[in-house]
Formats: sequence, structure tokens, C-alpha cells
Amino acid sequence: MSQRLLPADFDARHFLREYWQKKPLLIRGDGHFVDPLSREDILALAREELVESRLVTSDAQDQRWQLRHGPFAAKVLATLPAQHWSLLVQAADQWHEGARELLREFDFIPRWRIDDLMISLAADGGGVGPHFDYYDVFIIQGLGKKRWRLGGHADSNSPLLPDTELRLLQHFDTQEDWVVEPGDILYIPPNIAHYGIAIGDSVSYSVGFRAPGAAELLDEFCAEILPSLAEDIRYVDTAPALPASPGEIGSKVSAQLLTLMQTLLQDPRPLTRSFARLMTRPKYPELFDEEQDASVSTLSQALRSGATLQRHPSSRFAFHPLEGGCELYADGECFACPTSFVPRLGELCDPFAPELPWQALMGEDEASAQLIVALYNQGSLWIADDEEDA
Ligand code: SIN
Ligand code: CO
Repeated sequence: MSQRLLPADFDARHFLREYWQKKPLLIRGDGHFVDPLSREDILALAREELVESRLVTSDAQDQRWQLRHGPFAAKVLATLPAQHWSLLVQAADQWHEGARELLREFDFIPRWRIDDLMISLAADGGGVGPHFDYYDVFIIQGLGKKRWRLGGHADSNSPLLPDTELRLLQHFDTQEDWVVEPGDILYIPPNIAHYGIAIGDSVSYSVGFRAPGAAELLDEFCAEILPSLAEDIRYVDTAPALPASPGEIGSKVSAQLLTLMQTLLQDPRPLTRSFARLMTRPKYPELFDEEQDASVSTLSQALRSGATLQRHPSSRFAFHPLEGGCELYADGECFACPTSFVPRLGELCDPFAPELPWQALMGEDEASAQLIVALYNQGSLWIADDEEDA
């Protein structure tokens, strides 16, 4: 049974209306928070090759900052000073069941918006400096205390401190000043400056969200529609007129181009599909096995012999209802959804749902069997053996 983090009277609808993406909120806990990882567990993750980790150190005046990337040698971690460092471990939810469990509380936000759970282990005075993020974050305070100062709006025009890879703000205008304790949750919307400093040893857990930029969206959209664009969709002169100067590209041409581009956006399907591909793309594709080449018969045989299929723990699923059907998105790929899957999509897209009866679903019809094989071959489903379970 996972622990409750949000207070019993937390009103998610109210939160979405008043705070989400708008203004910060400090949600006080009941003081009974239990850290899912020990300090040793966190240090062990920072030593792992496959785990993304960073170490941020500063001087006593928070004037000079240093950033180092992991993995870190045991000796480095064993000889950290008593103050002014913060060790960040990204995507701890992919490595630790207890860390993953913390995400359960945030299912009032669509699951595909969650990017990862980052852990920050800090010594007294440690932090990552005054900065802003482009995405929302819930920061759950675990062990110890942290002082959080929140500033005003910041964006790509805000001046940054020179000489550091960390994107630290030159100016910080404190508007809120809060000390958080175990179990408190701080919500910070995108583009709000914030500055956390550990008071004694501190552990915090940041639930970060995925918010693709317009450049990424456009890039993905182009990749989605380019293969299906017919050659004959092209620029035409709809109202030819004598040019004032033969070298001029006039504003009528610009309007014409705009119309052409808008026509391409009329169909919401490729747009939705490209967005879904981005939102379900794995954070670390290298954690997936090589593409498999199972067939319906080889996979059915394996399941009959006692193998069990499971969702890959790093998998991201989502679906989109369409008129007369559904599209399923799994780890950046898009699939037409067979009818037998439609009532199960909620479970399939919920990483905390009990496993689906894959074997029974395989037997439903050919389309269901083909979909399961495709999900298995791309690594979204895998056969968990006892060793992998452990
Ligand atoms: C931290 O926990 O110090 C960093 C989290 C954040 O600022 O988003
Ligand atoms: Co931040």
C-alpha cells in the first residue's frame, strides 16, 4: 500500500482551476512522510552508469557554482564535504519501485504529462541555485528541511549568471519564503523563479512534467505528415496580377502560403499523433531491448509455456479516441486499436494497473494478437523472468 501524500481535503479540481500552470502553492503534509529511499540507495544510484546524475556544488556565498555529471565513483561520493552540494538523480522512478510509487498521487494530471521523478540529496546549504524551469514541478520534501524562495516570472530573456553551465538567474526578487518539512509538497508552475537551499541534510523528490517546445512539436509534425503529402499539394497563384516589380514577393503571396499551411493543419489526426509520439517517447530509449522478431505463433507458444508478458517499466502508453475507434500510442509509436482493446485502454495506459491478461487477449482475434506481438517486438512489453523481476 503506497503512502498518501496529499492531504485528505486536497481538492484537485480547485487546484487545476486556481493553481496549475498559474501560481505556486505550498501544500503542507501531515508530518508522517516516509522516504522510499535511504541516503545509501540514492548514492548507489548516482554510481550507476545507466542512471543520469549530476552534482552541483557552490561556495558559501552561492557565488561560484560547479556542475559535474555522473556516474560518480564511490570515493567521490564518500568524500563529499559537509556543506554546499546537491546530488541530483534523474528518473529515479525507472529504477526504484518506492520512488515510482510517489507518482501515483499525481494522477489528477494526465499520466503522459509526467516526465520523471528526480531525487535531490543535499548537504546543509546545498541547492541548484536561483533558476526557472519551462515545466511544472511538484517538489515533495523528504528527509530534513529546505528553504524555498520563490521569485517572479522568468523566461529566455532573463539575464543569467555568466561562467556556469547551470542556467542561474542574475536577479532574484523574493516573493515567497517558505521552509518545507518532510511530507510538504511545493508546486511551482513553469517560468516562476525558485531557489531552494537545504537546511541540514535534505532529500527532496521532484515530479517533473513533459512540455515539448514549439520547435520539437513542429519537427515531429513534419516527420508525421511529410511521407503522406501528395506531390500535387503545392504553391499555386490563385489571383495572378501584374507584379509592381518582377523581383518582389508581395503580401498576397504570403497570404496564399498561409492558406496552404493552414490547409495542412485542418486534419487534427496527424497533429495529435505527432504530439502523442513525443509524449510517449521513452526518456531513455537505450533502456529498451533490441527490436525482437517474434511472430504470433512464437509468442503464443512462449505464453502457453508459462512465460508472462509485462509492460516494460520505462514504457509510456497513451490513447486517443477517434470516431469509430481508437489510436494507441506506445513508446513513440502509433497503432490502430482493435475493438477487444478498447475497454482495456485505461488499464493499459496506467503504469500502476495490474497486468492485463495478455494471453487471453492474444486469443481474441488476429488484430489483437498482431498488436501484442508488435508491442512485444518494440520492447514495450517484455517477458519478465524471475531474474528480471528481482
Ligand atoms: C532541487 O530539488 O533542489 C531542485 C528542484 C528544482 O528546482 O526543480
Ligand atoms: Co527547478
